[in-house]
Amino acid sequence: MPSKRKRKKSLNSNPAPGNKYDIDPARLPVHVAIIMDGNGRWAKKRLLNRVMGHEKGSESVRIVVRTSREVGIQHLTLFAFSTENWERPRTEITALMKLLNRFLKTERNEMRDNDIRLQAIGQIDRLPEYVQKTLLKTIDLTKDGRAMQLNLALSYGGRTDIVRMARMISRESIKGQLTPEAITPDLVSSYLYTKDLPDPDLLIRTSGEMRISNFMLWQIAYSELYITDTLWPDFDKKEYLHILKQYQSRDRRFGKIKD
Ligand code: IPE
Ligand code: IPE
Ligand code: MG
Repeated sequence: MPSKRKRKKSLNSNPAPGNKYDIDPARLPVHVAIIMDGNGRWAKKRLLNRVMGHEKGSESVRIVVRTSREVGIQHLTLFAFSTENWERPRTEITALMKLLNRFLKTERNEMRDNDIRLQAIGQIDRLPEYVQKTLLKTIDLTKDGRAMQLNLALSYGGRTDIVRMARMISRESIKGQLTPEAITPDLVSSYLYTKDLPDPDLLIRTSGEMRISNFMLWQIAYSELYITDTLWPDFDKKEYLHILKQYQSRDRRFGKIKD
């Protein structure tokens, strides 16, 4: 390993100054995932175009990224665009892509300065070329970030993730490089888009919908769920901190019994 890499802080050495908010740094979720929902309804309530809801929603993204970094979350994954969202009207998709492009351009220096590394999961090759270019440039610019990893789920679907994994494993098997017995839960995880991420400890969904909407189907097997009625553009630091505190009172048993 090159010495340059050795000198860098590891993700795990990130100090967690959670105490300021009465959050126990030792019981922070390592990985928080968020289904950011309700932008359209937020706009509709105000008789605005849905796109205005997405614009306001990008403010909430900023707040959540900053707060996560501040309290010491190591992985934050944001579900920004699903495989099913391609079926929305072309005008809305175009606006969302433009917004994503603008967000990456305006935020990347702050990300880099705050030691945040950007990654993306999903069918990146389906995004418009100009967005792919900005995304790859931002990933490259922030690649040395060690304090937090921000994962954007873009054209992501849990089922596509699983199908893609099955195809890769099948190809290896045909080549005789993988026996059926070698296929274990860990191996399956290592073929998913999220292969380098721990499973989410906490999954938050805004806008009150009691569903997963094809997000990380395999990875959330034991995630703690928190669904709030708040629409994404109204989601703020206070509520996020409240949810993190609430998470700390959860009893995660993983199917076992105590003692
Ligand atoms: C979430 O808000 C953003 C995306 C799915 C891209 P919505 O656009 O789904 O807003 P609602 O659910 O229609 O209110
Ligand atoms: C889930 O929200 C996808 C994202 C937040 C990117 P949707 O609005 O697409 O999901 P449904 O239609 O309510 O299930
Ligand atoms: Mg929605």
